[in-house]
Amino acid sequence: MRKAIFAPVNPITIAIDGFSSCGKSTLAKQLAAHLGYTYIDSGAMYRAVALHVMEQGLAPGGVLDRPALLAALDGIRIRFEHDPLSGHSATWLNGRNVEHEIRSMAVSQHVTLVSPVPEVRAKLVRLQQDMGRAKGVVMDGRDIGTVVFPDAEVKLFMTARPEVRALRRYHELKQKGQEVDLAAVQANIAQRDLDDTTRAADPLRKAADAIEIDNSDITAEEQFQRALDAVLGKLAAVGYE
Ligand code: DC
Repeated sequence: MRKAIFAPVNPITIAIDGFSSCGKSTLAKQLAAHLGYTYIDSGAMYRAVALHVMEQGLAPGGVLDRPALLAALDGIRIRFEHDPLSGHSATWLNGRNVEHEIRSMAVSQHVTLVSPVPEVRAKLVRLQQDMGRAKGVVMDGRDIGTVVFPDAEVKLFMTARPEVRALRRYHELKQKGQEVDLAAVQANIAQRDLDDTTRAADPLRKAADAIEIDNSDITAEEQFQRALDAVLGKLAAVGYE
C-alpha cells in the first residue's frame, strides 16, 4: 500500500527514564533536535516545586511542612518557554524564569522532599500528559515510560555506574561556576537513587518494554546512535520514515 504523501511528521512519543545524572537530558535533547520533536524535562518541574518550597519556607529545618505544601499546590504554576538568549527551553515558576536556580545543589537536596508526595506527582503527571498529548515529544524523568506515557512507542532506560555519574555531575556543576564538593555530589546521587527507587508513589523502575542503555563506557555519540537506531526502527515499523 502506498504511504500517504502527507504522513504526520511527529507521530510518536519517546520516554527516557533512568537514574540521576545518567545523561538522560543530553540524549533527549539530541533526539529531539534530530527529529524536530519537543524536549520536555520532567525533572525540572519537580525541581521548580522544590524551589517554591524553599523560597516560601515550607521546609523549615529541612523537614517538609506537608499540609502547607498541599495548601500551596494549586497556586504553583509551572511552564516551559523558549529562551531566545540561550536558544533552549526554560522553566518558569509563577511567572519567573527559574531555569538557572533549579539546577543548584540546594534544590537537588530539597527535591527528594517533594517528589514522593502523591499529590505533587499527580499534578505534575497531569501537566506532563497535557504537554505530550499531540505526540512528537521526547520526555525524560523517572516514571515517563511507566506512568506518564505507558503507551510511548519508544522507551529508553538509562543507567551508568554511580561513580561515573557523580564525576559527570561534579564537572557539570563546576562548569556552571558552582562551588561543589565531590563527596557531597556522590552522597546526593546515592540519596536520590535510594529515594527514587524506594518511594511508594511511582518509583523509578524499568518498563518491561524499555530498551536499557548503560552509558558508563560508551561515548555520547555511540549512545545517541543506539537510541536513534531504536527510534528509526520503531518509526519504520509504524510506517513512517
Ligand atoms: O532529572 P532530575 O535529576 O533533574 O530530577 C530531579 C528530581 O526529581 C529527581 O531527584 C527525581 C525527581 N523526578 C521524579 O521523581 N520524577 C520524574 N519524572 C522526574 C524527576
